[in-house]
Amino acid sequence: MDRAQANKEIEQLRTEINQYNYEYHVLDSPSVSDSEYDKKIQRLIELESMYPDLLTPDSPSQRVGGEPLDAFRKVQHTIPMLSLGNAFNEEDLRDFDRRVREGLNEEVSYVCELKIDGLAVSLRYEDGLFTQGATRGDGTEGEEITSNLKTIRSIPLRIDLDDAIEVRGEAFMPKKSFLALNEKKDANGEEPFANPRNAAAGSLRQLDSKIAAARNLDIFLYSVGQWEDGTLSSHSERLDYLKTLGFKTNPEWKKCQTIEEVIAYVQGWVENRPNLSYEIDGIVIKVDNLEQQERLGFTAKNPRWAIAYKFPAEEAITKLIDIELSVGRTGVVTPTAILEPVKVAGTTVQRASLHNEDLIREKDIRIGDTVVIKKAGDIIPEVVRVVKDKRSEEQQLFHMPKKCPACDSELVRLEEEVALRCINPSCPAQLIEGLIHFVSRNAMNIDGLGEKVVIQLFEEKLVHDIADLYKLEKEDLLELERMGEKSVTNLLEAIEASKQNSLERLLFGLGIRFVGAKAARTLAEHFLSIEQLVSANFEELIEINEIGDKMADSIARYFDEPQAKALIQELQQLGLNMEYKGLRKTDQPEDSVFKDKTIVLTGKLEIFAREEAKQQIEALGGKITGSVSKKTDLLIAGADAGSKLSKAEQLGVEIWDEEQLRQALDN
Ligand code: IVH
Repeated sequence: MDRAQANKEIEQLRTEINQYNYEYHVLDSPSVSDSEYDKKIQRLIELESMYPDLLTPDSPSQRVGGEPLDAFRKVQHTIPMLSLGNAFNEEDLRDFDRRVREGLNEEVSYVCELKIDGLAVSLRYEDGLFTQGATRGDGTEGEEITSNLKTIRSIPLRIDLDDAIEVRGEAFMPKKSFLALNEKKDANGEEPFANPRNAAAGSLRQLDSKIAAARNLDIFLYSVGQWEDGTLSSHSERLDYLKTLGFKTNPEWKKCQTIEEVIAYVQGWVENRPNLSYEIDGIVIKVDNLEQQERLGFTAKNPRWAIAYKFPAEEAITKLIDIELSVGRTGVVTPTAILEPVKVAGTTVQRASLHNEDLIREKDIRIGDTVVIKKAGDIIPEVVRVVKDKRSEEQQLFHMPKKCPACDSELVRLEEEVALRCINPSCPAQLIEGLIHFVSRNAMNIDGLGEKVVIQLFEEKLVHDIADLYKLEKEDLLELERMGEKSVTNLLEAIEASKQNSLERLLFGLGIRFVGAKAARTLAEHFLSIEQLVSANFEELIEINEIGDKMADSIARYFDEPQAKALIQELQQLGLNMEYKGLRKTDQPEDSVFKDKTIVLTGKLEIFAREEAKQQIEALGGKITGSVSKKTDLLIAGADAGSKLSKAEQLGVEIWDEEQLRQALDN
């Protein structure tokens, strides 16, 4: 292939990939499978490495993160990135309205928007090319974080506009990604992020853009900075225009003619806020007409034409009765605050993770303290601070133990970890957690084996490791408390049935560090049998898409352990299936629940790659489409499902979660 041919193919690949990105990340409506997408990206990277001079900064290959930087460059904002004045109640909003009307002496309409709780950023485009992305910084000077922002797939790297334009918006981390990230951090003994905003900011301020690339960030654009264009006359037109240019704007904005309407909008979101898949901390109200905005101008700090209504912080005061310790599956020892029950943001809170000893020291938390509680990201209860005025002689300092609370072996603090870890492989707490994980829904999915029963079985010395589950006898179980003839039979049947599970469930169930449900499936599909996987080395493992260094290393080490080998062998002898049973493309069963059904997939899937789900459904005669309409028969909604889910609900379309999909496919 010569240079000219390569150039042509590269151009075509970029156009296609950009379109797929837009469909997936902005419209939430993919038109191609993940594997088709991956193939195109691979081909593009291949061609670009053959002809490095053809590599351009807007190539979609640049989204995976580049070479780490030594430091961030400073960026001057020609038009300052201002912050907004705050309103905390209805009266403040009415005052704002009064000031606006007095300033203008004419009719005014407002645009209300959600105040996204993330990090304000500015994106510059020149000749259509995304050339510079920056943080807000102090408003006049920010930091250049272009390569980090390029990893956000909803940011177009090229737009169809020749004028130079600067657009502004809020980069954020969806709640779900935040929860998953913190869970991972906890399990790895690292310091968790306090809230999604810090997580987003922390990710975008990394010198190594590969970190941002792995963090699932997103963005909503809400305003235009520098732009030599006078044709648009209102903010609402700008929002529409941003959307036309291919930017992701938040769909929930509303034009309001009166302050009463504004107040109703605010109240609506006070209630609806928990249902969003991202965090908001208030509502922004803006005068719609740009000429009016200009006439109103600015005070020293804020525009007079906009205000931010801040939701009341949902905090509560209670007493910290005790600090309990728990040992997780990976041996990390986590302290948890036991609280006098208190209501926060709609639910009763009785426990809050304190994560690690450093955090307890930092906040100077003592047993018996009166503490302020809130929900971080409105989801996870958190001790914000101690009410020091209420201190007396009674409070006691807390120290992490030197020994594991479950097995009494010495705890260690691994390098670079804030957590203490029990490294005794036969620690009962870890064994129990490992068993609970093994039988859980995304793993072996054994019905009737809840946490309580697992603990009971362990404590009665009926089950010590995974293999023991398959050696249980009816007589053993009948002796347990609350176990009747019927439940014993059901449980034994469920255990027996789980032997037939496809390989990926077993792989996930083994609890190999860093191997989640999705990776387990990828591995099973790739190797087809456990023998093949066990004999794969590090190099073979990292060859696989989606398997990174850390995971490959962990898998290779796991299967190197004689104990692991013995366990696999024992499970095999007990009759567990060790092969991948997922559908192959060539399978075409006559009849299936999906046959001739029009199906929409939305949200983030945790077990399946989207492409795989699509292929399997299509193999079973289903038709996948991008948007929900009256013709849709079934919506499969993963995490963070948004507008498609609401639409399906409105239209009365049947809705499944990912587990239902899995069960249907397994059948
Ligand atoms: S407008 C001059 N709209 O809130 C107007 N800001 O103090 C500038 N924010 O720094 C901002 N969502 O980080 C605007 N829909 C929205 C917003 C929003 C979040 C943040 C932004 C800004 C702060 C305002």
